[in-house]
Amino acid sequence: DLPAAVTVYEVGPRDGLQNESSIVPLEVKVEFVERLVAAGLPVVEATSFVHPRWVPQLADAAELVARLPLAGPVPLPVLVPNDRGLDRAIEAGCTHVAVFASATETFAHRNLNTDLDGQMAMIEPVARRAREAGLDVRAYVSMCFGDPWEGRVDPDQVVAVGRRLLDLGASQLSIGDTIGVGTPGAVTDLVGRFTAAGTPVDRLALHFHDTYGQALANALAGLRAGVTTFDASAGGLGGCPYAQSATGNLATEDLVWMLTGLGIDHGVDLGRLVATSTWMAARLGRTSPSAVVRALG
Ligand code: HMG
Ligand code: MG
Repeated sequence: DLPAAVTVYEVGPRDGLQNESSIVPLEVKVEFVERLVAAGLPVVEATSFVHPRWVPQLADAAELVARLPLAGPVPLPVLVPNDRGLDRAIEAGCTHVAVFASATETFAHRNLNTDLDGQMAMIEPVARRAREAGLDVRAYVSMCFGDPWEGRVDPDQVVAVGRRLLDLGASQLSIGDTIGVGTPGAVTDLVGRFTAAGTPVDRLALHFHDTYGQALANALAGLRAGVTTFDASAGGLGGCPYAQSATGNLATEDLVWMLTGLGIDHGVDLGRLVATSTWMAARLGRTSPSAVVRALG
């Protein structure tokens, strides 16, 4: 049985724009987020309070969120890696934050300049302080299906890291296929390991990159396993600057097209979304990699 409704968690302004070689002007970012909200996305991850030297594309995070409707009905979460990031997000008035960890040692080092234990030591006070301040905390775990340096990733290692993040008080865990190597059988297996370990399926989200063209098939496997939150990026923007060979996220339009066909409620106005991605592609000077955007745009 498939779920009757899903939450499409939009990550384009963050996961998409963090990987653009050009720096998108602040005005364009503001309009991008506003248009995504107007297209009916129920949550839009806006930016990251990471070190500006690590991700210069999002160095204007504070200026951006100052221009956004943080108290509106649509949550606009921001990524925070550490205490400094949380301080900046709270100062900016954010109400929803997302922490992120790696399932592998190598990526913990590459992405967070620490190791598996060090990332937990970094995240623990962030999650605790954020919750004390009344913020919602989402958690990501990266490299859940494969890692460019370590190869295959042990799914039990993913479950161990993911459950530690939930134990820190994250409301939801997003399982990331950072480099897009996962396939549907591995998705079914991994979700099953989480639920067998006692994690309610409604606390899981799936975050696919489409590097190997598997993202939509993987999303269908996730739906069949009972997952009801899927991360996606308008127009298929995205990647990760610290993961070689990570390309765009699952395109929101491709996901929405499939959900509509399956009769699953999502609340997104596909026409407005395609218009937004077509507009953004023109700002970036290239066409969208999304098949649905190309078909309808
Ligand atoms: P570090 O260099 O080890 O930081 O970086 P540090 O703690 O040693 O501090 C060094 C200096 O940076 C200090 O300044 C800090 O104040 C400053 P100084 O005293 O030298 O003047 N600093 C900061 N400044 C602003 N904002 C901050 C901040 N933190 C420290 N937050 C750090 C450690 C975690 C900061 C760094 O590694 C970092 O920013 N990493 C982020 C990398 C990133 O954003 N990656 C992409 C997001 S993850 C992703 O895309 C995957 C996902 O999509 C899911 C999936 O696909 O799997 C979520
Ligand atoms: Mg990602």
